[in-house]
Amino acid sequence: MGGCCSRRYFEQEDGAIKYRLIYGRRYHNLLNSMYFVANDDEEAYRLNRYHDAIKEIWRGAFNSPVEEKLRQGAHVIDIGCGTGIWILDMAQQYPNSKFVGVDISPIQPTEGLPSNVKFIQYNVLDGLPYEDSSFDFVHEQFMVLAFTETQWKEKFIPEMIRLTRPDGWIEILEADPGTSDGAITKRLIKAQIPRILENINAFSEIRNQHKIINIGKKYGKSSEESLKFYARGLSSIKGFIATSMNIMPEHYDALVETVYIEAEKYSTYFNHYRICAHKKI
Ligand SMILES: C[S@@+](CC[C@H](N)C(=O)[O-])C[C@H]1O[C@@H](n2cnc3c(N)ncnc32)[C@H](O)[C@@H]1O
Repeated sequence: MGGCCSRRYFEQEDGAIKYRLIYGRRYHNLLNSMYFVANDDEEAYRLNRYHDAIKEIWRGAFNSPVEEKLRQGAHVIDIGCGTGIWILDMAQQYPNSKFVGVDISPIQPTEGLPSNVKFIQYNVLDGLPYEDSSFDFVHEQFMVLAFTETQWKEKFIPEMIRLTRPDGWIEILEADPGTSDGAITKRLIKAQIPRILENINAFSEIRNQHKIINIGKKYGKSSEESLKFYARGLSSIKGFIATSMNIMPEHYDALVETVYIEAEKYSTYFNHYRICAHKKI
């Protein structure tokens, strides 16, 4: 085997942590996680920039009615916290509350953390190291690519419910490209997650909000950020997708560049789904 696909994978060690480097992008090296988006500085930049756009689009970092509880002092967990940007923002706004961010990749700051913030490196599919009902507010966003449909149903959602105390809230924010009707993400988020939650019968109330997110410069600043988030996200999966397409990495980069043009031309949009569920008392 030669050309584009030779010597694709090699490992990089940073202390005890091993990563996979593929076509110049860095990925986690866990065998028991299917997550295939990069975890390098470029991806961190993408996630951090999009945090502000999300707050603008949704008029806030969360939608569950937990503001009062957060002010008084609540225990909050963000699963798949990425760079920890959501946690750090929330911790600053609600100093009486305690925040835990969990991720398989240690890409969160380790120094100068506020005293109400803790980050742990953990695979949520292994079950998190917290007692049942430990948290008032259990949050996750943009993990649709992290699990199979069965894992969402049988592992991830049950784990979120287990961690939530009665009268607490679970919040899920996910997105899919609205222009591709057959997307698994759409099938999963639009139809499955609310239904999974309803069938579990653990909640007294489920709020399912949907927003269409126009992407591209012509719709303004947050829409321009959404387009960058989308295209940079495609770059972040380059290692695996270019490999499976059997194309040179440069060719893949050129395809991503055309996404910017096509998105403007065809008025591509995203669906965002924010689901807030109140656990029964
Ligand atoms: C698209 S990023 C979103 C990060 C963050 N929620 C945000 O909105 O900025 C998804 C994150 O989920 C993490 N992740 C994927 N699978 C995971 C797992 N099994 N357990 C914990 N974290 C996981 C990834 O490492 C990545 O940081």
